[in-house]
Amino acid sequence: MGQMDGLDVVACERCEELCDSRSRIVNGVGPADADLLFVGEAPGANEDEQGEPFVGRSGDVLDETLREAGLDRGDVRITNCVRCRPPDNRDPREAELANCREYLETEVDRVDPELVVTLGKVPAEHLLERDVAVTGAAGDVFDATLAGEPRRVMVCVHPAATLYDPSQQETFEATLRAAAEFTDDESGQRRLGDF
Ligand code: URA
Repeated sequence: MGQMDGLDVVACERCEELCDSRSRIVNGVGPADADLLFVGEAPGANEDEQGEPFVGRSGDVLDETLREAGLDRGDVRITNCVRCRPPDNRDPREAELANCREYLETEVDRVDPELVVTLGKVPAEHLLERDVAVTGAAGDVFDATLAGEPRRVMVCVHPAATLYDPSQQETFEATLRAAAEFTDDESGQRRLGDF
């Protein structure tokens, strides 16, 4: 059984293979009350080394594109479906996603973001619980139930996709702009609702 301290998993031995392949558990970063929660797939080599999500090349693309969209990495929360690096950067297995789901749901529940943004196919399909053609659906917002609460989930391409296919950069940036606008609108509505 794993152990959490606030939003962090501090001990977990649920996945034998990942326990062997990880150097450390990579928890989410960013404000505990962020309006936007980005969810990636799993840590890679750089993340495993530094203990922070999206710090390698994908992280550079994410940071730059957040800036282009008027957002700052420090203002959003960034986490992954699975908190330990899979060997050889393979996709996380269904059982591993299921083992880590409780931690992700706890994080969603406690951060209580206005919008969850999935980075890539694995988190989109994991949270929406169906097949998703990510490029076509990028920027679309879906309803999902997470930790027993209704949540809004925006589909987004993975930042690494822009490295393999530069034409995806436009889609990626447009989606991050839409996410920023979504939270602006939601905050505005909430403020008006206060009066
Ligand atoms: N890719 C992911 O999905 N997550 C990371 O943290 C880094 C790269």
